[in-house]
Order: sequence, then structure tokens, then C-alpha cells
Amino acid sequence: MNQLQNDRFLKAALREPVDRTPVWIMRQAGRYLPEYRKTRERAGSFMRLCKTPELACEVTLQPLQRYALDAAIIFSDILTIPDAMGLGLEFVEGEGPRFLHPLSHEKDILRLAVPDLSGLSYVYDAIRLVQHELAGKVPLIGFCGSPWTLAAYMVEGQSRTGFPRLLKMLEEAPILLHSLLDILAQAVCAHLNAQIQAGVQAVMIFDTWGGMLETGNYEEFSLYYVKQVTAELLRHYNNRKVPVILFTKGGSRWLEQIARSGCDVIGVDWEISLNEARLRVGNGVALQGNLNPACLREPPEVIREEAARVLASYGRGSGHVFNLGHGITPDVPPDHVKVLVDAVHEFSRAYHVPGDSQ
Ligand code: CP3
Repeated sequence: MNQLQNDRFLKAALREPVDRTPVWIMRQAGRYLPEYRKTRERAGSFMRLCKTPELACEVTLQPLQRYALDAAIIFSDILTIPDAMGLGLEFVEGEGPRFLHPLSHEKDILRLAVPDLSGLSYVYDAIRLVQHELAGKVPLIGFCGSPWTLAAYMVEGQSRTGFPRLLKMLEEAPILLHSLLDILAQAVCAHLNAQIQAGVQAVMIFDTWGGMLETGNYEEFSLYYVKQVTAELLRHYNNRKVPVILFTKGGSRWLEQIARSGCDVIGVDWEISLNEARLRVGNGVALQGNLNPACLREPPEVIREEAARVLASYGRGSGHVFNLGHGITPDVPPDHVKVLVDAVHEFSRAYHVPGDSQ
């Protein structure tokens, strides 16, 4: 593995001193970039793009060619695991993901098994290609969905407001749902470990739908399985610690519990300030976030002000990875991302003064 030229992101994730606050952007490779849309068109479909390592590598690197980002994230999708479990994933233009074989009956779940990782080898091949191309410029992040969030799509068959079929299963067949979540926890863990072995230097777990649960159910159906995953992850690889980021959208109510889940970094959405989040979790974990993605549609002066506000809210010292509070939307003008990334680097120096031990 190449020596890293910029390890600011890994250092901040582990709360080690840095010179500036690192920044990357959730969904940084995506439809707001014209070059992404071109490559996707060339691929023919989103799934073909994911499954062709050369093309996945190309789009992973596109945002790094434009912006001074401190990390890359491998181009893939959380729903590749259910696809490898035989549910048949497709993306319908303008509608989002859909499974050809959703889990409609009890027998569909009883038949499921942890997928053979050879069905996901295109992800590991893409990681190796990206690492070759990056040549140590910045670290590469691997990722997965949480078992709960994957189950949401697998039971519902697609993204549907309120996920009614999933919540019905939670009420009427909790044991069946637990058996699904158990298999998914094993699959998620195996997939993340295989990504680490292929070369990613950090991993992120997206619990996009954890926030729809009430507290007791969140702990029982989402956090419990995330803990199973974090307990089995390769936390050291190639003589380096591998930080784990956990992002629960709508999860600010549970920051204290999330901080005890075994993660190193908590992804924070914009429901609360980083100042409050930091006070609540103390020094045990780092924080990632939390600019409202809608801010990137505003004029450059507003973006700069908001970047300054988020940095000030976290305050002095390491342990902050700047990001949005959720993924970037396709309507963002690409130049606005440059304004944000440069503003974070410019304004954050003042929060990292050597010898300042906050
Ligand atoms: O961040 C990156 O640049 C890496 C790539 C990445 C994608 N999806 C590519 C993608 C990552 C990290 C994801 C995670 C993901 N996928 C999540 C968790 C994060 C979140 O946003 O909450 C979820 C819930 C999914 C499932 C998914 N994939 C949905 C619901 C959709 C359709 C709606 C949407 O947001 O576009 C996708 C499609 C998808 N995944 C696109 C991209 C770039 C757009 C596909 C296209 O090109 O049309």
C-alpha cells in the first residue's frame, strides 16, 4: 500500500491533531457532475456503472480532479448486498431503486443466506483500481448500509414513504424480521471486511432509515445489529487503525447510545448543532457533518458563511470531519462545491493551533 500524502481525514476521525479540518462530501461522485452523467450514459445503466470496475473507478476519481477533497469514497451502492442475495436490483429512471424479487413472503426470508462474496468482487476490484490510481493522494472510504436500512428496501421492494410493509412486519412478525437482520449483519460485516482487505482505509455505515423508529425499536432493530457489525470488523489493517463512521439520519436523539456503538465517528445531520453534539458525546468519538445540503444551492457568500458557522460550532481542536448532513443533491452547481471545500480549508486553520490542547 502506498504511503499516504494526505492523512488529515484519518487523523481527524481518530481525534489526532491536524493542520486543517478535512472535508469530503456524501455522494460526492454523482449526478450534479456533468462528467458523472456522461460516464453513466456510457455505462448504459447505474448497475452497469457499479459493476464495471474501470467505470466505477473513473467516477470515484472525478470529484477529486475538481476539488481539494481530503478523502475519496468508492463508487458503489448500499443495495449491492441484496442484489448479491438474489433480489435483482434495478434503478428506474426518476424512481430510484427497485427489487425484482422483494421479500414478500416468510419463505423468501427463510430461504436467504449470507451471500457469497464472489458476487461482490466487482466492488473489491474497483477498490484496487482506485487505490492504484490514487497512489496515496488521499485515503479511500468503503461503505455499507446498516442491516435495518437494507431490510427496509428488501421488504418494501422500493423506497416508499413510511415503509408500511416493513413496519407491519416489525409489529406482526418481529422474530422473522430479526432473522433477516441477523443475516444482513453477517453480510454487511463480511462485505466491509472484504473492502478493508481490498484496500479501503476507513468504512462508513449508512443507517438512512434508523431515524424513522421510536427509541426502543431503534435500539432493538437497528443499533443492536450495527453493534454486531462493529464488533466483528477489522479495526487494524496494514499497521493502521481503520476508523468506522456511523451515520444515522434523523438519529440526533440517540447520540449518546450511538457513541457507545463501537464507532469512531458519528455522522450528524443538521437537526442539531455540532456544538450540542460535541457536548453530548464528549471526547470518546469524532463527529462528521453537518451542513444542510440545501445550502449548496445558495450563492457563494452564503456557502462561505455557513461553512464558517459549522466550523465555529464544532470549535477548536481535532475530531471534526467536515461534510454535509446528508448527500449532495443533483441540482447543486459544481462550482459551489469548490467554494465550500476551499472555505473549509481556509477558515479551519484557526481551529487547529499547535500546542492548543482543546
Ligand atoms: O458517496 C458517493 O459518492 C459514493 C456512492 C454512493 C451511492 N449511493 C451512489 C449512488 C453511496 C455512498 C450511496 C449510498 C446509498 N445508496 C444510500 C445511503 C446514503 C443516503 O443517501 O442516505 C442509500 C439509501 C442508497 C440507495 C439508493 N441508491 C437510492 C435510494 C438511490 C436513488 C435515489 C438517489 O438518491 O439517487 C440510489 C441511486 C444512487 N446511488 C445514485 C448514486 C450516484 C444515483 C443514481 C443515478 O446515477 O441515477
